[in-house]
Amino acid sequence: MSSKKDWFTDWFNTKYYHILYQHRDDHEAQVFMNNLVSFTALKKGSSILDLACGKGRHSIYLNKLGYKVTGADLSINSIKHANEFKNDSLQFIVQDMRLPYPLKVDAVFNLFTSFGYFANDDEDVKVLQNIKNSLNDKGVAVIDYLNVDKTIARLTPKETIVLDGIDFHISKEVKNDFIIKKIEFTIDGKYHSYYERVKCLDINRFSKIIEKAGMKIIHTFGDYNLHTFDKIKSNRLILLLGA
Ligand SMILES: C[S@@+](CC[C@H](N)C(=O)[O-])C[C@H]1O[C@@H](n2cnc3c(N)ncnc32)[C@H](O)[C@@H]1O
Repeated sequence: MSSKKDWFTDWFNTKYYHILYQHRDDHEAQVFMNNLVSFTALKKGSSILDLACGKGRHSIYLNKLGYKVTGADLSINSIKHANEFKNDSLQFIVQDMRLPYPLKVDAVFNLFTSFGYFANDDEDVKVLQNIKNSLNDKGVAVIDYLNVDKTIARLTPKETIVLDGIDFHISKEVKNDFIIKKIEFTIDGKYHSYYERVKCLDINRFSKIIEKAGMKIIHTFGDYNLHTFDKIKSNRLILLLGA
């Protein structure tokens, strides 16, 4: 495992990340959760690990639906925020997804492109093995990833987004097997630069690492309404996995 200098350790822990993504569609996220628990027939009271939960938007909603939820994330600041919502059946922990998880659950959800960050494929396999080891018998896992084919076909090379008075200059490119999004802005004369980097994992590559981790694909969906995955048309690649 590499050092604290990893891009995902820095960027996701900043307030700027949350400013840039403040307009996430929470309604869409909730519809997705309704559809998932219904499709998987996950009984109320079952335990769910929301792995890479961020500030806990899915965790909090799943808990409201009646599930016992643990949200886990590497970002200390996001977990600090999420902890304001904790209760007897909703807890949050700081956890690196590459390390074994201290609990057994009925379902693990990895949502909104919280995968594919690591340079070495073995670390992706490790994450899946950890997920597998944390599942109870008949437990299921969900990986909600972008559809790399469509994302690459529609990549906007450069754009500027103004939010909370900050001009975020964003550039995207595909390089060395990763989709890289560079984020640059200047505040009070100080230049800031961050990037996000997600691996070009299509269904074929995913299948290989999933198999290597000893898991299997039960279903593939292409959007949050759980329509069938289509390589050209789908916005998402959502994998339902079993051990
Ligand atoms: C794109 S965000 C998604 C957050 C959340 N699932 C949501 O939908 O709002 C990715 C999250 O992954 C977390 N993350 C990145 N690397 C991680 C790691 N190695 N272990 C655990 N969490 C990690 C980040 O801190 C961030 O909160």
